Amino acid sequence: MHNEPFTNIDVLIAHLEAWSDQASVEVEGLTELDHGLQCAETLAAQSPEDAELAIAGLVHDIGHKITSPETHAEDGAALLGGLLGSRVAAIVGLHVAAKRYLVTTDPDYRALLSPGSVETLKMQGGDMTPEEVAAFEAQSWWKDAVRLRRADEAAKVVGRTTRGLSDWLPKLCQLAG
Ligand SMILES: [Fe+2]
Repeated sequence: MHNEPFTNIDVLIAHLEAWSDQASVEVEGLTELDHGLQCAETLAAQSPEDAELAIAGLVHDIGHKITSPETHAEDGAALLGGLLGSRVAAIVGLHVAAKRYLVTTDPDYRALLSPGSVETLKMQGGDMTPEEVAAFEAQSWWKDAVRLRRADEAAKVVGRTTRGLSDWLPKLCQLAG
């Protein structure tokens, strides 16, 4: 299992390809790759010009199967930052905090959470305090992390058709420089 920062795009691509054989941590009936592709597809539909955000959606759960539910976002940022840049890393790193933020600030959001997300929310700290909300809103790219988080929750549809991983490889390679 890969557990050190990705420095080579081919290694990252091989890791994502292997997701097609791995059951999603978050939803029964999907693979990790299905979930990432659905998230990327939603973000790309909302903001076609923002490839970085869509790629962040594709790879946001890179920490799954490597680390724990509590720390997979921050660990994912550390795994990806050197290869995909600081914005992708920041968005990935904040996507769990964004769940706590939305639960705290958006009364309708909690009802959208999948049973798995409700369960992990407890381990991840539950609701934010007002101080934590203010600290979250002071982070760079926090609004993008909130957008990814909403797409994340919507990316749990068994049977949904999306573009495949190969369609994202040019953008992924471009980002990795
Ligand atoms: Fe996710």
